[in-house]
Amino acid sequence: MKALVYHGPDHKAWEDAAKPAIQSDTDAIIRVDAVTICGTDLHILKGDVPEVTDGRILGHEAVGTVQEVGTGVKTVKVGDRVLVSCITACGTCRFCRASQYGQCLGGGGWILGHTIDGTQAEYVRVPFADTSTYQVPAGVADEQILMLADILPTGYEVGVLNGTVHPGDVVAVVGAGPIGLAAIMGARLFSPSHIVAIDLADSRLEAAKQFGADVVVNNSHEDAAAIVAELTGGLGADVSIEAVGTPATFEQAVALARPGGHIANIGVHGQPATLHLEQVWSRNLTITTGLVDTYTTPTLLRLMTSQQLDASRLVTHHFTLDQFEEAYDVFSHASETGALKVVLSRR
Ligand SMILES: NC(=O)c1ccc[n+]([C@@H]2O[C@H](COP(=O)([O-])OP(=O)(O)OC[C@H]3O[C@@H](n4cnc5c(N)ncnc54)[C@H](O)[C@@H]3O)[C@@H](O)[C@H]2O)c1
Ligand SMILES: [Zn+2]
Ligand SMILES: [Zn+2]
Repeated sequence: MKALVYHGPDHKAWEDAAKPAIQSDTDAIIRVDAVTICGTDLHILKGDVPEVTDGRILGHEAVGTVQEVGTGVKTVKVGDRVLVSCITACGTCRFCRASQYGQCLGGGGWILGHTIDGTQAEYVRVPFADTSTYQVPAGVADEQILMLADILPTGYEVGVLNGTVHPGDVVAVVGAGPIGLAAIMGARLFSPSHIVAIDLADSRLEAAKQFGADVVVNNSHEDAAAIVAELTGGLGADVSIEAVGTPATFEQAVALARPGGHIANIGVHGQPATLHLEQVWSRNLTITTGLVDTYTTPTLLRLMTSQQLDASRLVTHHFTLDQFEEAYDVFSHASETGALKVVLSRR
């Protein structure tokens, strides 16, 4: 088969790779029908995620068709159309029993495209298939459900729920990539009074308006702190969400929060970021960080099928699987291409 293989920072290729086979009786082999690229894949290519080593097939989001299941797989069947979640869950460890699948101790967690081969391939092996995939309801398009593999649960859990967005809140979102936009969509469900989207790319700020931000700030030449202060009587945002993954944007997210406010870090960081305790120790802040657990996937799926969450608008570009190089190019140059999520499908 063909797959998108990582060869160290800045190097990747769509090349021949061994077709995956069942290794454990709880595995399934899934034919990838639609797959996408995450901002985290860009971090990997920058060398920010050193556990990803030369030869690894990237990708942790897919919709596919089950080709083969191990003898221990009970509910997933050959021919099923399933969502492959970015988080794999053994289902039985301490953390899985508490719905904290991202922290799975039984061999799951974020493993696809990280510590085992991922979904940017014609076929993928998914461990613990019963507890790591979701049946796709009839009538839901592949590319719509694909947004549930990572970005919607991430924006919702790690941004909105960890940040404890309440009705009437002023929410500042630093970074309006797909993750920031997913956080904006999720925050909308709680009727905040204002959502301030902050990015460097005007195309992404335009998108943020479409997804529910009422104030947009271009961080390259506008003063986010002054704009948030003006909206909040000088206090700062109730909830500040970091969706970029750089030291500067983390520090900015902290600085934007009001006393007693919440800062929810979503970004994957490759370097240390400074927490200016000398400035904020007395502000009673709550800072949360996290890897998505995907425990809200069923909730978000219900919101999607009841038309309360329209994820298809996140998809701006379509490619076939053999066009991975172009798709990465378009996704990584979002300010010029206007890309949000790119979807690659089987021919
Ligand atoms: N915690 C998790 O479980 C989890 C899951 C998925 C993704 N992530 C992380 O979330 C982050 C966002 O992912 P994405 O897919 O949206 O990535 P992306 O690269 O598409 O988007 C990042 C956005 O940040 C903007 N940006 C860059 N520098 C900025 C600055 N100084 N000020 C304001 N905006 C700036 C960019 O213009 C871009 O629009 C990444 O760090 C990704 O790794 C975390
Ligand atoms: Zn991701
Ligand atoms: Zn587990």
